[in-house]
Amino acid sequence: MARKIFVNKSRYFNKLEEEFGMIPKDTIDKIFDAARVEEVVGDFVTLKKRGANLLGLCPFHNEKTPSFTVSPAKGIYKCFGCGKAGNSVNFMMDHDQLSYPEALRYLAKKYGIEIEEKEQTPEQLQTQNERESLFVVCSYAQKYFTGNLLQTDEGRSVGLSYFKERGFREDVIEKFQLGYALEDRKGFTKDALSKSYRLEYLVKAGLTIHKEEDGNSFDRFSGRVIFPIHNVSGRPIAFGGRTLKADKKIAKYINSPETDIYHKSNVLYGLFFAKKSIIAEDMCFLVEGYTDVISMFQAGIENVVASSGTSLTVEQIRQVKRYTQNITILYDGDSAGIKASFRGIDMILQEGMNVKVLLFPDGDDPDSFSRKIGYEELKAFIRENSKDFITFKTMLLYTDVSSDPIKKAGLIKDIVESIAVIPEAIHRSVYIKECSRLMEMDEQVLLNELNKIRRKHSTDKNKGEAVQAEPDSSQGTVIESKEERGAVTLIEHQERDIIRLLLNFGDKTVLIDGEDEEGKAIETPVAVAEIILHELAQDHIAFENPSYQYIYTSYSEGFQKGSWPDMNFFINKDDLVISRVVIDLISSPYTLAKWDQHHILVQTEEQVLKKSVYSALYSFKAKHIEKLLGETSLELKSAGSEEDTLILLQKHKQLMEAKKYFNKLLGRIITH
Ligand code: CTP
Ligand code: MN
Repeated sequence: MARKIFVNKSRYFNKLEEEFGMIPKDTIDKIFDAARVEEVVGDFVTLKKRGANLLGLCPFHNEKTPSFTVSPAKGIYKCFGCGKAGNSVNFMMDHDQLSYPEALRYLAKKYGIEIEEKEQTPEQLQTQNERESLFVVCSYAQKYFTGNLLQTDEGRSVGLSYFKERGFREDVIEKFQLGYALEDRKGFTKDALSKSYRLEYLVKAGLTIHKEEDGNSFDRFSGRVIFPIHNVSGRPIAFGGRTLKADKKIAKYINSPETDIYHKSNVLYGLFFAKKSIIAEDMCFLVEGYTDVISMFQAGIENVVASSGTSLTVEQIRQVKRYTQNITILYDGDSAGIKASFRGIDMILQEGMNVKVLLFPDGDDPDSFSRKIGYEELKAFIRENSKDFITFKTMLLYTDVSSDPIKKAGLIKDIVESIAVIPEAIHRSVYIKECSRLMEMDEQVLLNELNKIRRKHSTDKNKGEAVQAEPDSSQGTVIESKEERGAVTLIEHQERDIIRLLLNFGDKTVLIDGEDEEGKAIETPVAVAEIILHELAQDHIAFENPSYQYIYTSYSEGFQKGSWPDMNFFINKDDLVISRVVIDLISSPYTLAKWDQHHILVQTEEQVLKKSVYSALYSFKAKHIEKLLGETSLELKSAGSEEDTLILLQKHKQLMEAKKYFNKLLGRIITH
């Protein structure tokens, strides 16, 4: 009767293998099995036994009393101070800033597990070799340009003296591997060919320009100082060359074109050098150009990157998001580009990150300003002048509009457009309050505008993923209850409860009343996950939180294929958002609700679990209904025809009945 449900771990690792190619799945399996979290962490942190867990000082933030916990049983660590959490692979990634495959290789080495590289198809080999060839060529070019700068007469007298004049220190010039391209238009290409680098790759790497017509080849960069652009692992993948001539007709910068290893929209200048400090400071400064990055770095502020020349992309934002949720954008005092950059900033907000903005005094940019003043002063200046983006935008635009009411209306729309893209309802409401204060404008007016925009976005998306209207604080509507207003922000709790039960108890069974073939009443053991899937599928309920929805869907797919997802599938996922959520839900101390505070009746664990499951389900459904009630109320307010109103009233009535029904069920669970 009860379905056989087995856990098939390796199926999930196939996916990892696809993503990471080279390391075969059973080797990954072996590594995960061997790498005991307490041993891996223990190499870097002194751990003391504390009950079933181990405790130590967190290596990711400064602390005096230990809050860094390692659970050997679950194979995870979690810091209750800074929130960092993960498995042994995550630990190595975070601690040594390794990529996923790099962390796997490190652990394989530690545990003497041999990684035989998987046999690749000829095409795979070819693309891999080709990319590798581009890396090799770029690395050679970097060394060549640096050699020019430091060891040739031309390089020293033109390039190096320029950098010195700008105030760049030698150690910084070395660190950023700055260089110089000689005036000779064939210098690099000739040299590289003489060292047997192939013309094909010089061209593909964007270093050499080949003219088909006359078969001539010459260098892309000549007579310029060179800023190598590195990928996150520190390999040079492209170059920016700045002219030293004052001639306005010559482009100030020439940059490498897009290549197989350089996708501009994905790359931030300086990220390799900055990432460690971004993590430590939990913040990233975003500046405009190469020289801004280098000067800030030299001044002692190392968590700084530049989008260099391109407007900010979502991919670049996500690169930063791997290390921090906080971005501060630094602008020149006279930058005309501020307003043009607003779209980019909205993208950061949309990623759920926090954006601050800092304006330098007129005529200064981060480069010139940080050369003028010392580290302490610079730090203080940044601390005192960084403004939360929404506030910044409000103030900047507000001074423009003065008292023109039409312009003011436009401004409200503009600001609220930015607030509307923020995914968290709570954050949105904080900003609405702040805006209302700054503009001396009724909060309700802003809320109405916000709801209008969010409703419009949701119909624009046309994907059925309902965007929630903001809790409305207007009064006087007949059918809007207090709970309805609160529902929007609270449903997260119910969603979380369901996912927590899925993760912690999904494969445990409880006894459900049912019938056998002859219709006789019997109790059947059914897995908790199956109950949850069944109940939610019935009502077509989706989760608002995308991570929860992802986890739920994994269970749902697992059910169809006859195997629940293994917890390691989530914990060991390369998607850090998911693995964090899961680790959080399985590591925070969680006990099943105590139902028996009033009845002195001892229940079995199974009975308690069953109650927890149904109570979570009914609460979730009740909340979901409240949410629908709230939406219906809003629709009623703007309903056009009498017929629409009647239909909506009908819907409202049905929802109220459903709500009563679930509340009754809930009451029964709690009192029984
Ligand atoms: N940029 C570019 N092409 C140009 C001008 C600018 O690619 N013709 C990019 C470069 O990445 C540059 C950034 O935009 O670093 C910012 O431009 P700008 O402020 O003009 O250059 P800086 O790097 O600040 O150079 P400098 O301080 O020497 O003027
Ligand atoms: Mn500049």
